[in-house]
Amino acid sequence: MSAEAFRWGVLGWGKIARTQLWPAMQAAGHQVVAVGSRTPGGAIAELPGITATTYKDVLANPAIDGIYIATPNHLHVPLTVAALQAGKPVLCEKPMALSLDEMEQVQAAADASGCYVQEAFMVAHHPQWQALRTSVAAELGLLRLMQVAFSYDNRDPANIRNAFAQGGGGLWDIGCYAVWVGQWCMGREPDTVRASATVHADWGTDIHCQGELLWHGVDAPTVLQFSVSTQRARHQSVTLVGDSAWAEVVVPFNPLPETVVRLRNPGAIADDAVQTLRFGPVNQYSEMVKTFAQAVREGRAADLSQSRAITRTLVRLRESAGMCGSA
Ligand SMILES: NC(=O)c1ccc[n+]([C@@H]2O[C@H](COP(=O)([O-])OP(=O)(O)OC[C@H]3O[C@@H](n4cnc5c(N)ncnc54)[C@H](OP(=O)(O)O)[C@@H]3O)[C@@H](O)[C@H]2O)c1
Repeated sequence: MSAEAFRWGVLGWGKIARTQLWPAMQAAGHQVVAVGSRTPGGAIAELPGITATTYKDVLANPAIDGIYIATPNHLHVPLTVAALQAGKPVLCEKPMALSLDEMEQVQAAADASGCYVQEAFMVAHHPQWQALRTSVAAELGLLRLMQVAFSYDNRDPANIRNAFAQGGGGLWDIGCYAVWVGQWCMGREPDTVRASATVHADWGTDIHCQGELLWHGVDAPTVLQFSVSTQRARHQSVTLVGDSAWAEVVVPFNPLPETVVRLRNPGAIADDAVQTLRFGPVNQYSEMVKTFAQAVREGRAADLSQSRAITRTLVRLRESAGMCGSA
């Protein structure tokens, strides 16, 4: 391990932290030095080279360069604010905030501390999405339609995704990726949104949510249609249709190390007209933590404009679907 390895403190040693971020940090040459837990004993205490402690003690640890937050959604902002107040830069899991008021709390804490803070949209660090904005966008022409589907099947009442008070529900959990796609491709918030949802009778969380984001254009609008579900076959797909061609992002959000985008030429439906763009091997989580560490080392100012736009759109979608209030 290099003497200059970026040193992480992690709050919330759950599935994503253990199975994706920890390996990604190691692959980036970084070090996890402390893990915070509500119950710091047990398996966490056995982790090699890692101090298992409380959330509070992680934030007070002077040997930490940045905090990664991977708790249930309702704790993202309280912990982000506490970390910033402790003078620690923060990489916070998506969705960073559950309201615009919460987003402003993060902004105020970032302004007061001068510390860098970023929402962990790992997809932004995958070259397939970089290409979508450059080479693929050039082939597509004017983007007219985006279709985003994302689903899994999780009926465990104890899972954080099924707990309303913890910011659960499909729209917060994976609908944020559909909104991210629109924000990424269009570079601005939609002009109008609408959504509908099926809410679980006991949990109060949306188990199916679908809707439409619309950007006004000179001659016609650009539309994003999405459908997300927490009780459907595991699936993810993104299709982008432009004036000149269309593209299929085969595994848009959780790609294997090597993945492809299929680009279909004007007027062509047959497979022999498909261009296949290949990407990887790449670990988007590793790329994300490297970018974060670089921003911290450069002393870059936090820019929450994209995260604020995504939160605002998610809040508007929730209101449209009649899902007022959140955790
Ligand atoms: N970017 C991605 O690819 C991706 C993928 C999956 C999830 N996520 C995000 O990552 C976050 C965590 O997801 P996960 O699947 O890792 O969840 P998880 O396995 O349930 O882990 C959450 C962790 O939070 C801690 N925690 C603190 N207060 C808690 C409370 N009141 N109830 C339950 N747990 C609490 C727990 O650790 P202690 O008990 O030790 O404190 C737990 O291990 C979520 O915000 C989710 O949206 C992102």
